[in-house]
Amino acid sequence: MNVLVIGSGGREHALCWALNKSEAIDVLYCAPGNGGIDQVATCVSIDTADHPSVIQFCRDNAIEFVIVGPEAPLVEGLVDSLSAAGLPAFGPRKGAAELEGSKGFMKDLCREYDIPTAAYERFDNAETAKSYLDSQSLPIVIKADGLAAGKGVIIAQSRSEADAAIDDIFGGLFGASGTEIVIEEFMQGEEASFFVLTDGETILPLVTAQDHKAVGDGDTGPNTGGMGAYSPAPVMTDEMIQMTIDTIIKPTVAAMKDRGVPYTGVLYAGLMITETGPRLIEYNVRFGDPECQVICARLDSDILPALQATANGTLDEVSLNWKETTALLVVMAANGYPGAYEKNTEISGLDDANAIDDVTVFHAGTKKENGKILATGGRVLGVTATGNSVSQAQAKAYQAVSKIDWKEGFCRKDIGWRAIAREQQK
Ligand code: AMP
Ligand code: GLY
Repeated sequence: MNVLVIGSGGREHALCWALNKSEAIDVLYCAPGNGGIDQVATCVSIDTADHPSVIQFCRDNAIEFVIVGPEAPLVEGLVDSLSAAGLPAFGPRKGAAELEGSKGFMKDLCREYDIPTAAYERFDNAETAKSYLDSQSLPIVIKADGLAAGKGVIIAQSRSEADAAIDDIFGGLFGASGTEIVIEEFMQGEEASFFVLTDGETILPLVTAQDHKAVGDGDTGPNTGGMGAYSPAPVMTDEMIQMTIDTIIKPTVAAMKDRGVPYTGVLYAGLMITETGPRLIEYNVRFGDPECQVICARLDSDILPALQATANGTLDEVSLNWKETTALLVVMAANGYPGAYEKNTEISGLDDANAIDDVTVFHAGTKKENGKILATGGRVLGVTATGNSVSQAQAKAYQAVSKIDWKEGFCRKDIGWRAIAREQQK
């Protein structure tokens, strides 16, 4: 069968890399793809926001299954359009994608169904938002309601910072995503990412991972889309996983069904592991990026049947095997990211990095031009290694980073530090 993956990031490179091993696939396409995806899929430049042209492409190329990677096309209803055209697709429909598309929607659902999360209120104007702050303690978390590429959250340490954040968001800092805001309690703890596949009924837990959101070593500086990740996340003990499934995931899947917007796809819970157990920070309606890359590196089964079963309601018939190894990924980003950065700078040394045992370099913001790889985005490469411990995977990943020649790029030097500190305690 022919399969189409939608997206152009490191997540989609990892998905295509995993799907490329599936014997059931004749031709794997990726739209639009990037400079690395073309090693494992046929990249096609169609405008994925233009649903009729995606449908036409599927008809012209006998596509039997579509996998939608990023949140924007999900929130914009691409799966609804494909389904209406009779094309099976992986990912939630528009109504269910509101779990990520509107923080207010997600928080109200948690309140109604008693799902542990930070206390919060929603506001549509600066005045009432600011007067609410009078009764709250610091730090306090201010969020734009809609999608903001991981940048719509401000953790204010002072009242003046909180006031400024409210003014900035209502002033249009995040465009239409900021016509409403959520103000919530600051939660203390260690973060983890937890993923399940669900067909709206059955829940198939995947593995755990930990992201590194801050741009600088020691988790300093502004937040990014994620500067590195590893899987598994030791903070997610069997007990924490069970509590997450019982108190967060199951009630959410049931609530979505109850509301008439059953959730199908991968559900990504961003968690804060607190003294009282896991609490939900946010939901994402897609695989995490870069978490997807470390998850795919540990997968020991064909991913395609699980994604198809998720989409067609037969997930109870599927299981997945995982390697016992640890996978760790270091993001290489363009100097200046998450602020302004230069584009079209040349990267070399990728073959040497990929030649190291157990190393795969996933591309995010790259393109291939005249045989050269050029950086086109903020997050550019995900240098991924597997090993028998976090320390071993980390050493291999940084060995591979050292082979990559890209003077306009940088990476964090401490990916995996929490887990390595735990390993050293043992
Ligand atoms: P989000 O986009 O909602 O995942 O938020 C981005 C990051 O902000 C999270 O990964 C956390 O590091 C932080 N964050 C968001 N909400 C809270 C909260 N209520 N308490 C503490 N940290 C938070
Ligand atoms: N790594 C964070 C995200 O995908 O949202």
